[in-house]
Amino acid sequence: MRILGIETSCDETAAAVVEDGKAILSNVVATQTPFHTEFQGVVPEIASRKHTEWIYAVVKEALDRADVKPADIDGVAVTGEPGMLGSLLVGVNFAKAFAYTQDIPFVTVNHILGHLYASRLTEAAPDYPFLGLLVSGGHSIICRADSFSSLTVIGTTIDDAAGEAFDKVARYYGLGYPGGAVIDKLAQTGDASAFRFPMPNLYKGEHRYDFSYSGLKTAVINQLEQFRVKHEAVIPADIAASFQKTAVDVLLRSLFRAIEDTGLTTVVAGGGVAANSHLRARLAAHPGVRAVFPPLSLCGDNAAMIAGLGYHYLARGDRSPLTAVASSRTQGFKRKYP
Ligand code: KG4
Ligand code: ZN
Repeated sequence: MRILGIETSCDETAAAVVEDGKAILSNVVATQTPFHTEFQGVVPEIASRKHTEWIYAVVKEALDRADVKPADIDGVAVTGEPGMLGSLLVGVNFAKAFAYTQDIPFVTVNHILGHLYASRLTEAAPDYPFLGLLVSGGHSIICRADSFSSLTVIGTTIDDAAGEAFDKVARYYGLGYPGGAVIDKLAQTGDASAFRFPMPNLYKGEHRYDFSYSGLKTAVINQLEQFRVKHEAVIPADIAASFQKTAVDVLLRSLFRAIEDTGLTTVVAGGGVAANSHLRARLAAHPGVRAVFPPLSLCGDNAAMIAGLGYHYLARGDRSPLTAVASSRTQGFKRKYP
């Protein structure tokens, strides 16, 4: 089955053609970053307008690169939740129109489950259940995955998402936007022990897998004030390396607790922050843990993961009606503590 995937939940307008949930025939991602840079964050109104302007050309490009015609597509999968509603609606409505005119089925899928699926497009797929580490600009979730369509949240951030912390630190230090990739690169020439930033208090009981980024973010930003007061030069590489190490420590502390308590030793990562080289190196070096990461090109938002995941729904007969709606929030993830 050849599935057309469409993703417009945030600030990438993306379309892909994927065969049987595995073979990527094309994967087009048009990033809107330059249009949001001036505002140092995604502006929902600009995002939905750009999706509207670009969606036709992006889908056409995906079909052309895959060397297929609309009539060669067997079904359409589109991100239906979560994300910015105005942006989601562009993709969902385009998917409906495409499916209706081609008389093929379409299905809406969850963006977070899409990130969890991304590594299956290129890596050997681990058996379920396993742990998922889904870290992006909007989400930070440690979960148990029991199938391609179900996950149980074990722990999550109580304030900022991991990617958001990278973006905000970069913004205060004037390093650029989005901040994750910039900090990652800068950190490679910095000293990670130059500054000791605080880890949040240990969470107890049911919250022992949760984590927090606002304290770390504030400490790193306050350090900038210290530089100013003491008339010291800012060393961005050292700040980047020290912040990045602590940010990864925060995630891994909760993740290793979950590994210990569930006995699940395979971790499948996804989301923009899964591109982080320090996170990848730390997990890879951990004995007894099998870490599966998507290639860098599939960590951030893309439609190949949506087409890949959507194939499984369509193949088992799931269909979304043409009255299907988008939702800014995830519907129906359970939260449970192991
Ligand atoms: O998955 P994604 O493209 O979009 C969302 O669904 O949010 O993730 C974007 C986030 C941004 O916050 C960006 O700064 C972060 O992923 N990011 C990184 C890296 N590359 C992107 N964070 C840390 N290290 C990176 N190498
Ligand atoms: Zn995402």
